[in-house]
Amino acid sequence: MKIGILGAMREEITPILQLIGEYETVEHGKNIYYLAKYSNHELVIAYSKIGKVFASMTATTMIEKFGVEAILFSGVAGAINPRLKIGDLIFATKLAQHDLDITAFGHPYGYVPEGAVFVETDKRLNQIADEVARKSGMRIGRGVIATGDQFIADPERKKWIRETFQADAIEMEGASVGVVCDSFNIPFFVLRAISDSADGNAGEDFDSFLDKSARISGYFIMDMVEAIED
Ligand code: ADE
Repeated sequence: MKIGILGAMREEITPILQLIGEYETVEHGKNIYYLAKYSNHELVIAYSKIGKVFASMTATTMIEKFGVEAILFSGVAGAINPRLKIGDLIFATKLAQHDLDITAFGHPYGYVPEGAVFVETDKRLNQIADEVARKSGMRIGRGVIATGDQFIADPERKKWIRETFQADAIEMEGASVGVVCDSFNIPFFVLRAISDSADGNAGEDFDSFLDKSARISGYFIMDMVEAIED
């Protein structure tokens, strides 16, 4: 199978590239795509740069130019659910764009006509994640992930996102990748390891834990690649 592995930041794909060791590179649209073979699969790996626009563009390129048949997102997130601690893994069952707002026209937050507030991830990939976690004795959570073009470091905004979307974690790319994959009917999976709690310390925590949490997520994604059958 041809699988796209997408991160937002260089740090989020570095552990994956280190594990793979050998790859070719193709530059396209100001991004570098790393092409590799791993565990009977062809991989297309890239980091998009931060935010929904860059992530949408990179996901679209993976599908339209490179022909990937599934996309796995690997990266870090802020915790919204108080049960999630730094280093914990969570995958999204569904995602919403918390900064999408045409409520002036009577629509709910996160909704635009012909879209939906939530985009759902692929059930089979989520099941594989649960199986991989069970086999390796790791804990993984599942929940709602909220996406927006804002780094959240504010208890009030965090509370609003939790209450409005029942979100468990917050990041800046997942829902946009989901919208792209849903449009092209490509199964997708979004994994995040917690780097901060989206509160007043979020900036410092993010800087301290980015590498470590990105590695936790990246290694898990590669275990999933091994578990995915053709
Ligand atoms: N990614 C990691 N932490 C985040 C936060 N607090 N807000 C948005 N995206 C994040």
